[in-house]
Amino acid sequence: MSRRVGLWLIGARGGVASVVISGLAALQRGLTDNCGLVSCLLTFSGLELLDWPDVAIGGHEIRPGCLVDEVRQFQRSSRTLSDQLLEQIEPELRQADAAIRPGILFRAGDAITRLAAPDIAGDDRPPVEKIAQVVSDLREFRESGQLDHVVMINLASTEPEADVGAIPDTWAELEPTLHQTDCPLPTSSLYAIAAIQSGCSLVNFTPSLASDCAAIRELAKANTIAHAGRDGKTGETLIKSALAPAFAMRNLQVMSWVGHNIFGNMDAQVLDDPENKQAKVATKDGLLGEILGYDPQSHISIEYIRSMGDWKTAWDHIHFRGFLGTPMVMQFTWQGCDSMLAAPLVLDLFRLTERAARAGQSGVLDWLACFFKSPMDVSENNLTHQFSLLQQWAGDLQR
Ligand SMILES: NC(=O)c1ccc[n+]([C@@H]2O[C@H](COP(=O)([O-])OP(=O)(O)OC[C@H]3O[C@@H](n4cnc5c(N)ncnc54)[C@H](O)[C@@H]3O)[C@@H](O)[C@H]2O)c1
Repeated sequence: MSRRVGLWLIGARGGVASVVISGLAALQRGLTDNCGLVSCLLTFSGLELLDWPDVAIGGHEIRPGCLVDEVRQFQRSSRTLSDQLLEQIEPELRQADAAIRPGILFRAGDAITRLAAPDIAGDDRPPVEKIAQVVSDLREFRESGQLDHVVMINLASTEPEADVGAIPDTWAELEPTLHQTDCPLPTSSLYAIAAIQSGCSLVNFTPSLASDCAAIRELAKANTIAHAGRDGKTGETLIKSALAPAFAMRNLQVMSWVGHNIFGNMDAQVLDDPENKQAKVATKDGLLGEILGYDPQSHISIEYIRSMGDWKTAWDHIHFRGFLGTPMVMQFTWQGCDSMLAAPLVLDLFRLTERAARAGQSGVLDWLACFFKSPMDVSENNLTHQFSLLQQWAGDLQR
């Protein structure tokens, strides 16, 4: 008997989510090939991953609006997705839109709160009531769709960095704070708690905290929930994690690594706020020291340039030293359509997490490290080594 599984997106009308939903519809109808999808590589063909038609979509969003309009707007600004494709998948977009529920906000900061509908922005209920709302929406989604399982994937705007020091280390200490309006958790963690309490697997594609703190890990463990994160590795950082090992292997000393990123979508607009930007820079900057074994001078800038829309240009300048102290330079320019790079990885993470949950696996799925800029529980940042972890997991499961 075939399984039917729900993909629940937080930030369901955002850029990445719009392309996830459009791409899934195109795959379900056989209107596109599987280019860009890691889970479709031959090496994973024996895993019995979920088929595209067995996926149902729903989610939470804080902005009012209509998914079809969001996708049309994305099409205009990114100059991707053909008119013909949009016409063909419009019924699926409307169906997905009908399963999008009003989201929640808590400690979200000004840049995100400004995006929200007034009733969501002004909702001052304590976290415990907001979590109950999400739990109820997830239950309704699961029951109405007769779903065997649900995977929640966080695709919401990047939150300001959470004050991790203020979050208690155990669930027993954290739980009472959920009744207080000064609870230290950010919104992403409230969604994570709701997912765990609803028996859903959880993936955090953003730099926000979500389940990445001791007390929520403990809750996930107690509820045997599979979870993974943090911050999808789609462009400049992907190349960095493939390239830095080459310098290490040739014993070339990287003296400085500078990366300038410019793009103009809503994600970039939110990241233009220094509080939100700091969270992103932290996940993009963490990997060089681990790969190289020392910390070269590094600098990362992220600038909002409206005319670029969803197209990101990253220019990296690597200043390194070779034999007899000779200084040399490598530069690369990455020009990628952000949501087109991210969306297939979201679908991969959904299928692989669902497969792990189906196999009874729980806790942090550290073998998904190659998908993340700042993978939970994994200090290994070398892309090739990270990919080996994924292959090893697949091999073990197929044995
Ligand atoms: N595009 C990429 O290549 C990429 C790579 C790695 C990580 N990410 C991360 O993925 C996330 C989504 O990126 P995007 O380009 O789609 O951004 P986006 O701004 O287009 O979409 C984010 C959506 O989340 C919604 N939202 C914000 N807070 C919410 C909440 N509490 N509940 C429900 N909805 C909420 C916003 O209204 C918006 O629709 C960002 O955090 C981004 O940093 C993106």
